[in-house]
Amino acid sequence: MIESAMPDYNAESVATFDKNAARYAERFFALTDYDRFYAWLVAATPQGPARFLDLASGPGNVAAFVRRQRPQADICCVDRSPLMLGQAARLVPGVQIQAADCRDLSALSGLFDSAAFCFGLSYFDDADARQVLAELHRLLRPGAALLLATVAGEPALTGAQSNAAGERVFSFYRRSAEIEALMRSAGFLIEQTQRIPSPANASLQTEDVLVQARRGE
Ligand SMILES: C[S@@+](CC[C@H](N)C(=O)[O-])C[C@H]1O[C@@H](n2cnc3c(N)ncnc32)[C@H](O)[C@@H]1O
Repeated sequence: MIESAMPDYNAESVATFDKNAARYAERFFALTDYDRFYAWLVAATPQGPARFLDLASGPGNVAAFVRRQRPQADICCVDRSPLMLGQAARLVPGVQIQAADCRDLSALSGLFDSAAFCFGLSYFDDADARQVLAELHRLLRPGAALLLATVAGEPALTGAQSNAAGERVFSFYRRSAEIEALMRSAGFLIEQTQRIPSPANASLQTEDVLVQARRGE
């Protein structure tokens, strides 16, 4: 069980992402390491004007891939960082942006046909991770595809990481089985889980876990 003692540990992480949004986009927006997983998500998304949610979107890496394959899709990027959303609006044609905390998505209405939650889970302790997954479950139509990608590792790695400017991000590390258990208890059916090394330009060399799932009926 990973719980944070800080009242809003996540606010400092988001402030760090916000300050570094342009740099993050430069480093990671064009990364192709996850394209085969994004391709699964696109194939699992209905044709036509399907509603796609990119949660904790950052500059819209997944949204951009979906846009290229599905010009008619109705794509919404959600992030707590306004400057990350600014990057998404600049980089992903026709995208809608919504500033929101993943733990409270009450500003979003209707159901989505598919969603990505990529590299957001590790910024939440267990209680908040359950809350985010419950919100995702509520917003997806039954059977909708979810791609969840996250860094994975021994829980002992959990803590603050600082960049050269001393700006901090709080990361919560979980093993693959714990990530799957969180998803199952939120009502997702797991089709496949793959583990791959983190990208060569990641700040910390760990492992990425990519879970292809469906919202239970
Ligand atoms: C590592 S980036 C991932 C961006 C993108 N999804 C990707 O795959 O590269 C993490 C993102 O999560 C966002 N984030 C962190 N906490 C959040 C929260 N409580 N609500 C919404 N977004 C959050 C950050 O602002 C940042 O843009």
